Amino acid sequence: MARNSLVEHLAIAGRAAPSADNSQSWRMVWDGSCLNLQFRATGHADLSPSPSDTATLLAMGGVIENIMQMGARLQLDLQLETHPDDPGRYASITVGKLEQKQDLPRDHPLFSRHTNRFAYAATPLPEDVKSELVSMRDGSANILLFDEADSIRGIANLIKTASGVRFRVRQAHEWLAGSLRFNTSEEVHGSGMDVRSLDLPPGGATLLRITRSWRVMSALNKLGVYRFMAAADSAPVFAAPALVAIRASSDSAGAIEAGRLLTRAWIRLNELNIAVHPYYVITDQLARLREHTLPGELEATVAQIKEECSRRCALSDSDSLYMVLRVGYPKRAAPRSLRVALAEVYLDQSDESAAGQ
Ligand SMILES: Cc1cc2nc3c(=O)[nH]c(=O)nc-3n(C[C@H](O)[C@H](O)[C@H](O)COP(=O)(O)O)c2cc1C
Repeated sequence: MARNSLVEHLAIAGRAAPSADNSQSWRMVWDGSCLNLQFRATGHADLSPSPSDTATLLAMGGVIENIMQMGARLQLDLQLETHPDDPGRYASITVGKLEQKQDLPRDHPLFSRHTNRFAYAATPLPEDVKSELVSMRDGSANILLFDEADSIRGIANLIKTASGVRFRVRQAHEWLAGSLRFNTSEEVHGSGMDVRSLDLPPGGATLLRITRSWRVMSALNKLGVYRFMAAADSAPVFAAPALVAIRASSDSAGAIEAGRLLTRAWIRLNELNIAVHPYYVITDQLARLREHTLPGELEATVAQIKEECSRRCALSDSDSLYMVLRVGYPKRAAPRSLRVALAEVYLDQSDESAAGQ
């Protein structure tokens, strides 16, 4: 077995990570001793996350987590260094002696991790699962669990308000609209969100298609359509048996740690047949408030979300909320999202590869 196929297997694991709108804005480059994780531009700069966006760093954390889990399974000696502010190498993973001790595992639970946006049963999570979740950590990142009706309603209300803001912010709306895939020919390149994976009411796909244009959405917003869309978006959160919040320090290192913990907890929950649906909308609007990119008339609403979020998630001054997960036992299986071809996200620049050419 070529040494490179082991590294390629690490990259296949990395590629399975979650990313906002399935944008997969990463690239893994193997130089013969080190696997470097880089930013990869995936579309129009204004319509996709930038290298320093929190959403990008969360996704990078997910790639790192998957690679480290696969490395452990392959019994490889991996040394991880992170450089959260360097899009040329967010992470350098030095791979010790490359020696294959077992078959390449295609059945690792990280390949079964996925988003399920459909309804969940009301069944509560077992106590041992709750204890396991709240004991999980990665650096500054940790988990807060909400499973009482009042606290679930409190977070769901924040999601509903933040979602109402999102549908009135042009960039946020266009990001989502640009990632939607309505048919298989659009899906063929392997990124973006398949509308079949969304739990849409009758006519929902048509409404999404019509409102892809910001001109149409902003006209409809004058009639209050954003309220209807935010209510539909947040309804499953109000009905959730439990919510999981991922908190970590507010710097870029914290975002990567949060991404690792997010992916680790998600893999574990899916392994236990517990479904996961992430909601990034609160974190996203809070970032827009911080960066002054919100329309002025929405700033006060988001400032209120920030205050209420800090209180409900018991955030210290140096911590942030990175993600809320709706979790529970699924009522139905979700269609699985695609990934781009490996050649788009993995580059072998080692001598061994050059020798083989
Ligand atoms: C930073 C980040 C933000 C995300 N935000 C949302 C979200 O707000 N709503 C949602 O339904 N899914 C969200 N997702 C899930 C992605 O859409 C999903 O991971 C991606 O489409 C790949 O699908 P998979 O998780 O089934 O592999 C987010 C994922 C990440 C990493």
